[in-house]
Amino acid sequence: MHISIVGSGYVGTTVAACFADLGHTVTTIDIDDSIVAAIEAGDAPIHEPGLDELVAEHGGDRLRATSSYDIIPETDLTMLALPTPSRDDGSINLQYMKTGAESVGEAVANQNSTGSDSDPHLIITKSTVIPTTTDEQLAPAIARAGLARTQDFLVGSNPEFQREGSAVTDFLNPDKLVFGTADERARELLHKLYEPLRERADDEIPVVETDVAAAEMIKYGNNAFLASKVSLINDLGNVCKEFGVDAYEVANAIGLDDRIGAQFLRSGIGFGGSCFPKDTNAIIAAAEERGYSPPMLNATLRVNDIQPERLLKLLTKHTDITDNRIAVLGLAFKPGTDDIRHTRAAPVIDQLRDHGADVAAYDPVATENMREYYPDITYTETASDALVDAHGAVIVTGWDEFAALDTEFDTMVDPVVIDGRRIIDRRDGITYEGLTW
Ligand code: UGA
Repeated sequence: MHISIVGSGYVGTTVAACFADLGHTVTTIDIDDSIVAAIEAGDAPIHEPGLDELVAEHGGDRLRATSSYDIIPETDLTMLALPTPSRDDGSINLQYMKTGAESVGEAVANQNSTGSDSDPHLIITKSTVIPTTTDEQLAPAIARAGLARTQDFLVGSNPEFQREGSAVTDFLNPDKLVFGTADERARELLHKLYEPLRERADDEIPVVETDVAAAEMIKYGNNAFLASKVSLINDLGNVCKEFGVDAYEVANAIGLDDRIGAQFLRSGIGFGGSCFPKDTNAIIAAAEERGYSPPMLNATLRVNDIQPERLLKLLTKHTDITDNRIAVLGLAFKPGTDDIRHTRAAPVIDQLRDHGADVAAYDPVATENMREYYPDITYTETASDALVDAHGAVIVTGWDEFAALDTEFDTMVDPVVIDGRRIIDRRDGITYEGLTW
């Protein structure tokens, strides 16, 4: 098949490269010329393990990039993988999706005006959007160019469940595929699109066939459930801490119950990233607009806010932070990425500064990104540099290298370590507190 993907961010680029690897011809469309040039030259425009190899192999060949929408009518289907950022009130901003949908509609209409008699063009929403968005907002935006739904174009939703840092392997080994569409022809095209993936997979990949709005909701359900699982184990972890119980021992045991499952039970400083905070906020805002304020999902966010506050309380219990140097180890929202979106390091640094601390921050890869938002704090080249003369250290990201820190703690004025990720071992010579253990 020949498919077009509008938007070459994290999702668009990895999905495009993976589909090209499966044997399809893929053209990505992006307004950023540097992204287009990179893909055409076989260079991955973003860092994601395994992506360099795929783009090097297929870029400029089966994987093409352009800034023009003209290619769209020549392709068998188009995916919209554009950003869906948050507005200030947490609700979703559909501006990019709507503009993209309109441009796709115009491209399809241009071809129709040349008189060619083709099948309706299938447009699939890949980005995370609130249920009913594709049907009620994107389809009308596509139709604006004078197109008739079902006759000139079809719509569908095919959400993605990739994690940053393992997006390529997640795409190639999915737990499920979700095909949301009301149209049989669209469903057939989606089956055809994923056929090579299902052939390549060792195990049968379940396909969930459903309507568009349910597919859109499945994505929110997935992320809200996982975010809530983290907040629930953090909530329980805070209770554990009050009793001097190790939350990880408790989590290991409860995770043996198949109904609970062992994953996503790591308690600590909480969740960050481009998806859990944004998506939980967005689905709450959308539900509230319809008159229902979901108490559980609101609590998920509340617990996530509480964790950095508890970290700071533990720190101030053991050391005086005002006018003193405090080391913040880890700035990325999780290890393996330089992404700082919604990182827990932000509330930690904010609160430290509110208390007058002199923050010395270190991260192996995310420093430059953080510097943009926090230009006034000290950044160090190594974790040990951050610890020198510090009156306390807090661990925000679970980078493996922090586990190896040892005699470096001796350089601190006051060797107080508050661990938000359970990466440092308790040992003699330091005052160690785990957030939930
Ligand atoms: C998440 C989902 O896991 C993906 O399935 C989804 O496709 C993606 O969002 C998205 O919607 O695009 P991601 O944000 O890349 O993926 O990262 P995760 O590995 O899920 O971690 C999210 C946050 O939860 C991190 O800050 C991590 O440290 C935290 N977390 C995770 C915990 O605090 N404890 C855990 O046990 C697990």
